[in-house]
Amino acid sequence: MSFPITRMRRLRRNETLRSMVRETRLAPADLVQPLFVVEGTGRRDAVASMPGVHRYSVDQVVLEAKRIADLGIPAVILFGVPAQKDARGSGADHADGIVQRATRAIAEAVPALCVITDVCLCEYTSHGHCGLLDGEQVDNDPSLERLASTAVSHARAGASIVAPSDMMDGRVAAIRRALDANGFEDVAILAYAAKYASAFYGPFRDAAESAPEFGDRRGYQMDPPNRREALREMRLDLEEGADMLMVKPALPYLDILADARRSFDVPIAAYHVSGEYSMIQAAAERGWIDGPRAMEEAVVSIKRAGADLILTYAAMDLAARL
Ligand code: PBG
Repeated sequence: MSFPITRMRRLRRNETLRSMVRETRLAPADLVQPLFVVEGTGRRDAVASMPGVHRYSVDQVVLEAKRIADLGIPAVILFGVPAQKDARGSGADHADGIVQRATRAIAEAVPALCVITDVCLCEYTSHGHCGLLDGEQVDNDPSLERLASTAVSHARAGASIVAPSDMMDGRVAAIRRALDANGFEDVAILAYAAKYASAFYGPFRDAAESAPEFGDRRGYQMDPPNRREALREMRLDLEEGADMLMVKPALPYLDILADARRSFDVPIAAYHVSGEYSMIQAAAERGWIDGPRAMEEAVVSIKRAGADLILTYAAMDLAARL
């Protein structure tokens, strides 16, 4: 009989004891702050569906980047909201595109900060899909060249890590080849490897104005009920040359994250996505939950499940409190 010899409560009696036996500790160094960049100057526009999140013009995003670095957060991931969109997503790989300008400005003003760029076409295409269309289908192979050229343009602007989020087959290999061919052997690839077709991206699509004009993304993003398939996706991306793998969303997919941690010895990232963030903010605004505590609990759970890096809109708030 272990009771009453074993009393689990002995080590929970006060904060000193709890802190001594705490298994997981969140630190600013675990976090990546996502940033939305828009055209114009002097802009810090609140995103209605994401309380606490703003869209910044390039001049303002630089100020924000300085604050982020001062908080000890090592990296940002940039999403561009271009003024113009077309069927090919021409803005995605434009040398003076919104992400390219923001990347250059941040890399110059805050050199210690790692700039990660999201590589996808959905923010730049008039139809809002992540690749080129053939009729109403996203055409995989022709999309690869567009994605690779987008990644190269980000590297040229000063990105240290490119993160393809489109879910086209073969895009990691295409991007690795293009980066190397252009002299960017040292630019790393963070592959959104297990990215699910999730309802939790809703608020992001408002912020990035990237909701598909018709249909949905289930033809290329993963089906939520699938677990083994995520390991195949991750293995393929590693074989194609990914340096790091990502699971997205995070909280509803902690089993996938734990699988990834056990299966691969590469850095694993998790994306605590817009819907996960906004649910907590919305409930907190109504006084239904303690927002900061719920946010910290959510993000600590993501680390506990095995993430080395956590992309979260709460990064700055968390870092300020840690
Ligand atoms: C681009 C992309 C999306 C997100 C990150 N990159 C949207 C999507 O796939 O529809 C979502 C991030 C979030 O919800 O916070 N493809």
